[in-house]
Amino acid sequence: MLAHDLKPYSRHEASGMKALADRHVGHYTTIDHESDIMLGAIKIDLNRNLGTFVGDVEHEVAHCFETQFPPCEDWTPIDLHEKLLRVVAQASARIFVGYPMCRDERWLECSTKFATDVMTGGEKLKQWHPWLRPVAQYFIPEMTRIRGDHRRALELLLPELRKRKAKLDDPDTSPHNDMIRWMQDRAKNTEDKSFNEKELANLQMLTATAAIHTTRLAIIHALYDLAARPEYIEPLRNEILDVMKDGDGVLQKQHLTQMKMLDSFMKESQRHSPPSVATYQRKAMVPIKLSNGFNIPAGTIVQCNTNILDQTPAEWGDPHAFDGFRFYQLRSKPEDANKFQFASPTYDSMQFGFGRDACPGRFFASNQIKIILAYILSHYDIKFDEGVVGRPKNFMFEVNVLADPTKMVLFKKIQ
Ligand code: HEM
Repeated sequence: MLAHDLKPYSRHEASGMKALADRHVGHYTTIDHESDIMLGAIKIDLNRNLGTFVGDVEHEVAHCFETQFPPCEDWTPIDLHEKLLRVVAQASARIFVGYPMCRDERWLECSTKFATDVMTGGEKLKQWHPWLRPVAQYFIPEMTRIRGDHRRALELLLPELRKRKAKLDDPDTSPHNDMIRWMQDRAKNTEDKSFNEKELANLQMLTATAAIHTTRLAIIHALYDLAARPEYIEPLRNEILDVMKDGDGVLQKQHLTQMKMLDSFMKESQRHSPPSVATYQRKAMVPIKLSNGFNIPAGTIVQCNTNILDQTPAEWGDPHAFDGFRFYQLRSKPEDANKFQFASPTYDSMQFGFGRDACPGRFFASNQIKIILAYILSHYDIKFDEGVVGRPKNFMFEVNVLADPTKMVLFKKIQ
């Protein structure tokens, strides 16, 4: 219950960003960077525009499957880690940098590698004594690459920005509606003098880092859960086909809202395989007093356990069972119809964090995951490779819960 005690503190008093930056030596890996422009663009502009983009994202997902996946006429092993990185990166880039840049291989590579360089570079640098880090950073290849990633992102963005500038005077072209534009507009409206093209490139890299790997991992976990429990495939597929009956085969925002069984399955998958076993991480920037009398000195990092299966409310049923429709059933009472959703962070469901600074990209993530899973389920049958028995055990890396990358899921096109 002590998690509630932190809620009244502002983001500058109990800072999620500083906790994250400490974990990944953010001063060196460049992620210790808080931006109101980026947060506003995600929290307000992205969320406000979610409905507008469903068709565009679905189009990008379809393009990816058509161009990046083998034909799958017969059962074909798919390296989900590699393929879904591409699908999620391109589908997200459609909204972050717009079309056609979302298909630029160089941009996709740059925006996905940056996150890996930050994680690995940070881990390596942490092995060094803090006094030695200013020098040690130059001996770590990933740290050198991080600097290169920023330069490259700017180089790749510049032609797009120039193109947009040139079009500004053309009355026949409508302005772009994507995160580049939202960030630029926010900087203009707030007269933020520190914002320039370089800062825009940096914020794009940070947004991609927060968005892509987390979303990909949630989809892989869900597909592993599906392949291990094939009895869920048919009801989920039926729900998808049923909600899409109206709409001429084009996916719309309300279809995603209506996919309640899929939403429940995603939430149950995430309950068993959260992105991390530690959540709601906050660095106390001021002394914090908890309701049990405990004092947290400034500078301390606190966190909650995401993996609280034993402490789930009794009405949720057997906490250890995998019940893909657990939350679907809980939502069947009219008064609970809007509760227990994948993107609802609550005290019992902290996979997206907690409190006012819970993940601002969770509604977008929920949509992306549904669009991609709906595409897979309506175009393919899936199963595990022979020899895989049950649900493959997850791997732990520090607090992160990773899906076993050695296991292959087989895909076969539905004729
Ligand atoms: C399944 C996918 C995702 C998961 C599991 C996830 C999880 C999280 C978690 C646990 C936090 C920390 C919240 C807290 O401590 O209270 C967070 C923060 C954040 N997430 Fe996500 N996230 C996902 C997708 C996204 C996407 C798609 C975006 C961007 C569009 C995004 C942007 C952010 C940002 C900017 C923050 C920092 C917020 C702040 O400083 O106030 N995330 N996310």
